[in-house]
Amino acid sequence: MSNLQFHIEPGSWQMIKNDSLTYLMGYDFQMLGWDREAQTIDFALRFDDKGGHCQRHRHLASTTVLVMEGEQHLTEIHSSGKTTSKKRIKGEYARSNGADQNPHMERGGPDGGVVFYSCYAPDGRLFELVDDDGTIIREVTFEDMIEAWEHYQEEVRA
Ligand SMILES: [Fe+2]
Repeated sequence: MSNLQFHIEPGSWQMIKNDSLTYLMGYDFQMLGWDREAQTIDFALRFDDKGGHCQRHRHLASTTVLVMEGEQHLTEIHSSGKTTSKKRIKGEYARSNGADQNPHMERGGPDGGVVFYSCYAPDGRLFELVDDDGTIIREVTFEDMIEAWEHYQEEVRA
């Protein structure tokens, strides 16, 4: 189940990209492991050095973050429309307790970034993906992520 070989196995990073959004969206995803009984899921994101973001989202689960390489840049979008920014550098660790209040944008630094995430989702809900105006586009669950990763692995091996 677990795959800690970050750069070795072909297909270990899934490239995710969407050119139809109003912001630069593109990053690499790698599933590391999960535990259905404990409702925990671990994965890593690799951000490029060109400002590619992951989908604008709000965390619904308690999340632990460790910046393994480069930087993680976060822009939180408050309900007033105001934004606040935060930067975490290599080696920085953070954890949240329960759902985040606001959605955020997330990308790498000038040299990109590799970030480890571990989520605890007792109700199976991980993220809400959010539109430009704050509308929820979709909810991503524990099972959605596992299914998407297993589908990708099947494609790689086909
Ligand atoms: Fe996030």
